[in-house]
Amino acid sequence: MGKKVRRIGVMTSGGDSPGMNAAIRAVVRACAYYHTECIGYYRGYQGMVNGDSVKLNARSVRNIVNQGGTILQSARSKDFLTKEGRAKAAKNLKKDEVDAMILIGGDGTFRGGKVFSQEHDVPVIGVPGTIDNDIYGTNFAIGYDTALNTVVEAIDKIRDTASSHNRLFFVEVMGRDAGFIALNSGIGAGAEEILIPEEDLGLERLLDSLERSRRAGKTSSIVVVSEGDKIGKNVFQLADYVKENLPNYDARVTVLGHIQRGGRPTCFDRVLASRLSVKAVELLLDGKRDLMVGMLNNEIESCSLERALKGKHNINKELLKISEILST
Ligand code: F6P
Repeated sequence: MGKKVRRIGVMTSGGDSPGMNAAIRAVVRACAYYHTECIGYYRGYQGMVNGDSVKLNARSVRNIVNQGGTILQSARSKDFLTKEGRAKAAKNLKKDEVDAMILIGGDGTFRGGKVFSQEHDVPVIGVPGTIDNDIYGTNFAIGYDTALNTVVEAIDKIRDTASSHNRLFFVEVMGRDAGFIALNSGIGAGAEEILIPEEDLGLERLLDSLERSRRAGKTSSIVVVSEGDKIGKNVFQLADYVKENLPNYDARVTVLGHIQRGGRPTCFDRVLASRLSVKAVELLLDGKRDLMVGMLNNEIESCSLERALKGKHNINKELLKISEILST
């Protein structure tokens, strides 16, 4: 059993995601509930390296459960990738008398946390927060549900203009190397085709499918393209290729970009963030370390950070079939 945890540090790192504030709030309030001090670090690992911190109490996190972004801000710290940077961070935690850290972020955040914990013997718990949802050990990461709703709302609007002008729209969505956002928002928004990195549809099959849709009487179409999909070099070149080969189509491209990371978190993300973060505090107070909390089949579970980093969260391929059936 390690040293008793009296003060917990919390930070948000990597790409921000809606619900991170609800997670910070839950960490701070759970610490207050269990009579444990809490300190926040600004801009993720960069704040730990720079010693940029703030004491947090239950009142510091009032009125943030509904806010997008993160009050602690976020960054992808280059300094923390170096041994020297991590040593500086460890020195700052010691100075602040922080016994353990809660790291809210994605796989890059957890990779850093694992190395840091091994090098400097600081217990850490990861809380998955990324719109990409590409984390093993949890069905859902904080922010993913909100991002899906943002994308569906945007595509609904694109559909209005697509149908008014009989146009084909390619809509690029985020997800880095994972197709979760594309696949689920594509079904939710009724896309004709969904292109994801996990499944190579091939250019010829895409042309066939669009041609079939046209012959079946569809006058406008939406193709959702995950940013990690490599069927075309990028979404603009893909649209050019289709225009050259299917001149009947009047095609346009919309890249949704960072609007997908902003906005008020959905109720689902707020509840998820609250449950995961309370559990993270409880695990640390229970002497546990180097774990990631996750939600599996609506239960809050934990697995080692190592397992979370090695495992692969796979998309549900049945959804591809559903999409095919529904775009008939
Ligand atoms: O990981 C979240 C994410 O939004 C990815 O979907 C995207 O590829 C990436 O971050 C963009 O990162 P940045 O905001 O640093 O350009």
